[in-house]
Amino acid sequence: MAINQKFINQFASVTSKAAVASYKLVGKKDKIAADKAAVDSMRNELNKLNVDGKIVIGEGELDEAPMLYIGEKVGTTRGPEIDIAVDPLEGTNFAANNLPGALSVIAIAEKDNLFHAPETYMEKISSKVNEKGVVDLDYTVKENIFNLCEYLNKKPESITACIMHRPRHKKIITELNKLGAKVKLISDGDVSGALLVTDEKYDVDIFLGIGGGPEGVLAASALDSFNCFFQGRFLFDTDEDKLRANKMGIKNLTKKYELSEIVKGDTIFCATGITTGDLVSGIKIENNELVTETLVTHKSSGIKKNITKSYK
Ligand code: FBP
Repeated sequence: MAINQKFINQFASVTSKAAVASYKLVGKKDKIAADKAAVDSMRNELNKLNVDGKIVIGEGELDEAPMLYIGEKVGTTRGPEIDIAVDPLEGTNFAANNLPGALSVIAIAEKDNLFHAPETYMEKISSKVNEKGVVDLDYTVKENIFNLCEYLNKKPESITACIMHRPRHKKIITELNKLGAKVKLISDGDVSGALLVTDEKYDVDIFLGIGGGPEGVLAASALDSFNCFFQGRFLFDTDEDKLRANKMGIKNLTKKYELSEIVKGDTIFCATGITTGDLVSGIKIENNELVTETLVTHKSSGIKKNITKSYK
């Protein structure tokens, strides 16, 4: 069944209002306060919606997150049963330091159709080429780049790979450099990073590397609407992580997940800019109003667009 189109606007308002709340704390060097403002607003707004919602990706487990914890029920219950993944402030460093790229993000699917991702790292790969066997988490960097070159009829020098600038990615980055590929390093915000393959205007052919698992699920839900490729594999370092994963029903801890196993059925994705980044503009002040820009996608209707909203 499809999710009613009317919810696009409602969820875009939820992320827009969270972005406005967080915007007041941009550049104040306090990522916890900026995050809390977005979380409080998002929870408040979600509870006004006529949905029977369950947070499947949120601020953590009940013992560590009093608000928007995994399993929390939101909405009036007078409406469809839906799974909700939230990242009220994606890029806490960006917001605290007034740097480009802070977003407020939500993804929804029908009940039991969004992967319940644990709070661990995930090895991920996204690509605009959604053809089996071209890119894959199990391939070497060289194989992925060469396959993309063959498929796109490009030389490695004109392939751009986006990756987070982290010491753990040193080997991948060195390999990309050796191959002559263009490397776009991002300092944070890999929901946005993974989505740069969705439009040729970003000039990114592949995103790869390790980032947050929840961020991987959020990105996957938008990539599905763009008919792009995504795979993810959770990484469990500690026994505690492994135990928690087991409790969430994940039995095979080294499984590589295809996009279709992470997101099923219809989805709505909304990402509102707090500070200006690649995907959307940050909040602007026009005629004494705060203007937000939100990227929205809705799988069943094929809607993929940026919408603006204004607040007094
Ligand atoms: P926060 O908004 O929670 O600070 O996350 C930002 C982020 O860059 C994510 O986009 C990314 O998935 C994760 O942090 C990477 O984690 P780490 O900084 O530990 O490499």
